[in-house]
Amino acid sequence: MALKISVIGTGYLGATHAACISSLGFDVIGIDTDPSKVALLQKGKVPFFEPDLEELLAKEIATGRLTFSTSFDAIKDADVHFICVGTPQVKDGLAADMTYVNSALEALAPVIKAGSLVVGKSTVPVGTAARLRARLLEVNPGADLAWNPEFLREGFAVDDTLNPNRLVVGVTNDRAEDILKEVYAKNLANGTPWVRADLPTSELVKVAANSFLATKISFINAMAEICEAAGGDVTVLAKAIGYDPRIGSRFLQAGIGFGGGCLPKDIRAFMARAEELGAKQALEFLREVDSINLRARQRVIDLVRKDLSEDLIGKKVAVLGAAFKPDSDDVRDSPALDIAVQIHAAGASVVVHDPKAAGPASKRFPALKFTDDIEECLRDAEIVLHLTEWKMYRELDPGVIKSLVKRAILIDGRNALDRSAWQAAGWRVRALGRTDTNR
Ligand code: UGA
Repeated sequence: MALKISVIGTGYLGATHAACISSLGFDVIGIDTDPSKVALLQKGKVPFFEPDLEELLAKEIATGRLTFSTSFDAIKDADVHFICVGTPQVKDGLAADMTYVNSALEALAPVIKAGSLVVGKSTVPVGTAARLRARLLEVNPGADLAWNPEFLREGFAVDDTLNPNRLVVGVTNDRAEDILKEVYAKNLANGTPWVRADLPTSELVKVAANSFLATKISFINAMAEICEAAGGDVTVLAKAIGYDPRIGSRFLQAGIGFGGGCLPKDIRAFMARAEELGAKQALEFLREVDSINLRARQRVIDLVRKDLSEDLIGKKVAVLGAAFKPDSDDVRDSPALDIAVQIHAAGASVVVHDPKAAGPASKRFPALKFTDDIEECLRDAEIVLHLTEWKMYRELDPGVIKSLVKRAILIDGRNALDRSAWQAAGWRVRALGRTDTNR
């Protein structure tokens, strides 16, 4: 008989995982403590924006295989329980907040049946899986726990989940690995690389991968600073080094840096954990990665100040983009929004446009002005900041926009617009890490 699966937590990770596992033919029950989220999901509605997810969710609910509930009683019959809850940064330090993971385990342990397998997917400090496993066996000696980190990217969550570039399973025995092989049988048949690891290594794979990606972005942003100082062009530099297959061209897009609910908090939690383990020095470089990243935001603000003759008060600044990256409405630690907030705090009259994230962003920063109307955002602006590289911004006609704004000055914080087209239309264009930045 096919395995029955439960998924605890229905955020980006859990909702996507539940819908995708259901599409593989399993019966899936998604659990969340938030009744309003569950009510939406039951109706086939996704509480956030993620391309393709709503269609898949509605389709899977219609098959009857996928259901949602707020009650842990509903998962008693399931064989495999995926923990997909969040691990945000704690309010008073760098570490990850383990409250939700711990309570998920405490809720699961007494109710799950003998022989069932709890599988952690949340990003956690190394050592968590072993601790949770010991606790689980104390309460429910017939159950087991494995770790299976998730590498999905927001904006590509469905495809990344259905077609992962690798599957990593942290297990303590063959039976746990066999159960996971049953869950991921389709991927295995398609040749997805399968890496069996012990529990700590599987937890480390995830934070190591995110640290590497963060380092790659900060590396190119450090090169952007050097290009500015030396009169070079970081976009050309990135292209040229990217042709070396050992370096690779992806994740070398210089700009205002990384944000979101993962990279920033993951590198910080990794540093905090390394310190606890007595290995602080090994990750000191991540502190630099973090500060290069935050510096990029400040550099845009400095450029705005320069262009507005150091006087921001009352000047209209048009901000294109609020999400931490395109194709997402996620504004957690968004560099775009951070810049908008700081410029607003300096006295400018900031108007932010985002095709999807204006709602979530205005909830977080009600004092900022948001609009869905791009013309309203741009009208009479003294400077335009391009901060999230949505496709629709690349399709703007710089000539038409010039007639809307008060002064045709553009800062491309993502190095994603066609600079020559904007210049040809009469714009003064600045971008991080490019020769004309300081002119
Ligand atoms: C990241 C990882 O890429 C996923 O593999 C991982 O599963 C996920 O975190 C997680 O831990 O859950 P995500 O946060 O969705 O995924 O976003 P990314 O695509 O990694 O982008 C992160 C940030 O880096 C964005 O703000 C993006 O604008 C920025 N970025 C990315 C750059 O500034 N330059 C680049 O070249 C690439």
